[in-house]
Amino acid sequence: MGVLDGKAAVVTGAGRGIGRGHALQLAKAGAGVVVNDIDADEAARVVEEIEAFGGSAVANSDSVGEKVGADAIVAACAQAFGKIDIMLANAGIVRDRTFLKMTEEEFDLVMSVHVKGTFLCHQAAALAMKEQGTGGVLLATVSAAHFGNFGQVNYAGAKGAIASMTYTLAMELARYGIRVNAISPTGTTRMSDTYVGPDGKKHPMPYIDPELNGPVLVYLCSDEGNYVSGQVFGTGGERISLLNQPSYGHTLIMPGGWTIEAVQQHFKQNFGNRLQPIGITKPPYPFSDGIHPPEPQ
Ligand SMILES: NC(=O)c1ccc[n+]([C@@H]2O[C@H](COP(=O)([O-])OP(=O)(O)OC[C@H]3O[C@@H](n4cnc5c(N)ncnc54)[C@H](O)[C@@H]3O)[C@@H](O)[C@H]2O)c1
Repeated sequence: MGVLDGKAAVVTGAGRGIGRGHALQLAKAGAGVVVNDIDADEAARVVEEIEAFGGSAVANSDSVGEKVGADAIVAACAQAFGKIDIMLANAGIVRDRTFLKMTEEEFDLVMSVHVKGTFLCHQAAALAMKEQGTGGVLLATVSAAHFGNFGQVNYAGAKGAIASMTYTLAMELARYGIRVNAISPTGTTRMSDTYVGPDGKKHPMPYIDPELNGPVLVYLCSDEGNYVSGQVFGTGGERISLLNQPSYGHTLIMPGGWTIEAVQQHFKQNFGNRLQPIGITKPPYPFSDGIHPPEPQ
């Protein structure tokens, strides 16, 4: 008996990597799973894996970035299992390049799969859940890259957008019994193997099994997790981490409004030593001595 017995779930981008791990974990917990991936062969292989341990799954190869694809993915779940209870928007790609060299196409492609893909899959699933009157669970996928990451302005921006969408959808959809959260997963995958640091080199990390994101995900999708919405969790490896919600910090109030003279008088004194570390690794704030144009050659 699993905690997701009788539930119907979709995992997008589940043909490999982290999505495959999610699909296996949801199926082991008893859910029927639509294994979506534009790579049809990989999706079919994961379905075989699930059926081999007695789980229930069907493959789907529609693309998440188009409405017709997202609608077809949700329809495939209804056709296979009669309903949809869980939408896990996980599909992703990277097109890393430094900002000044990034092309419009590289920006649009990453936005389309991550941001639009999450919007369309969540909307198609939420409309079906509302129609069913059953409530349900939407889970999106962010990344610590949304704190800022060198060479990933498209990907970081996309993941930041998904975090903001998660907070907003949690507020809008609670009235339909739909809860909305996101995870920021970890795992050694095709994607994690591509990252190149500011030094232009790959930095191999110790192997982390992508399936280790699964147990907390199963909990969030289970009825026991019904009090959790609008939250982002760091998952994978040995951790479960609750992300702080963005909020204003130190604040100055000037009755009647600020003048440039008042800003000059108070700004550096109040904010100069409070500027926040930036990026994934949060080194001490690096720009206190100013940011200057390059020296003439
Ligand atoms: N690997 C990590 O450590 C890590 C860290 C943070 C976030 N993530 C996120 O986790 C998710 C999965 O990443 P991964 O590391 O497993 O990558 P991956 O490349 O191994 O797998 C992604 C899968 O998505 C599929 N896909 C791509 N575009 C699609 C589309 N339009 N429609 C349907 N499927 C599509 C791919 O075919 C692929 O199988 C992504 O959203 C990624 O941003 C991964």
